[in-house]
Amino acid sequence: MKDTSMDTIKISAKDVQVYYADNHAIKDVNVDIADKTVTAFIGPSGCGKSTFLRCLNRMNDTIDICHVEGDILIDGEDIYDRRVDPVQLRAKVGMVFQKPNPFPKSIYDNVAYGPRIHGLARAKSDLDEIVEKSLRSAAIWDEVKDRLDAPGTGLSGGQQQRLCIARAVATAPEVLLMDEPCSALDPIATAQVEELIDELRQNFAVVIVTHSMQQAARVSQKTAFFHLGNLVEYGDTNQIFTKPSDPRTESYITGRIG
Ligand SMILES: Nc1ncnc2c1ncn2[C@@H]1O[C@H](COP(=O)(O)OP(=O)(O)O)[C@@H](O)[C@H]1O
Ligand SMILES: [Mg+2]
Repeated sequence: MKDTSMDTIKISAKDVQVYYADNHAIKDVNVDIADKTVTAFIGPSGCGKSTFLRCLNRMNDTIDICHVEGDILIDGEDIYDRRVDPVQLRAKVGMVFQKPNPFPKSIYDNVAYGPRIHGLARAKSDLDEIVEKSLRSAAIWDEVKDRLDAPGTGLSGGQQQRLCIARAVATAPEVLLMDEPCSALDPIATAQVEELIDELRQNFAVVIVTHSMQQAARVSQKTAFFHLGNLVEYGDTNQIFTKPSDPRTESYITGRIG
């Protein structure tokens, strides 16, 4: 049977504008993001990739001068509706940042934090189970299972980033947003995280910002190219990199816009 989940739209953005005070940073973006798929956002520095990514879990709400217009629907529901609690939303739409940022707590507590505040575990045994499952799905369980009480900040950079992925996964999200998750990692840790991203797409819609076109080509099935706040082109990764239809995309992938 054909797996049709890749054809299911998870996130739908309509006429999205983002302003930082007078700076119009995202201009009229329309895009449908598929479930169980890795979507890469690429484009030159400052083109709005992170800004648009942060719209998808309302992280921009935390920036005073930032103003978002338009609609963003997840499973058909408007995430900017005033009845939506942004804290609940961010449990459902998890985020991993550029620099690994584990809490100054134990490995166990880094992962248990979200499930605790969202009341996802009744008993200690439930919590233990969530922690183990999350660390396993972030492909770091074997490396940390004997030292769950050790501080998360004592791990290597690549391990810290996988711990942060485990922390995001622990609240049973449906979407994972990753903003240049490998940019602080060495090549080996990068390869591990890329392999992990490929596994995560079995269970989540994954959206990754990357400045590396090679990375976008390796990990994503869909690619969106941003330029000066516009979403210039969106399509199958393979098509974007081999037969882009917009001259701006072509200039970027051939290295003429940087
Ligand atoms: N927190 C912020 N406050 C003010 N302006 C910002 C902020 N973050 C981004 N911008 C501006 O928005 C535009 C897009 O930036 P950004 O989304 O960070 O691009 P990218 O992630 O593609 O490098 C830039 O002009 C940048 O200066
Ligand atoms: Mg950015």
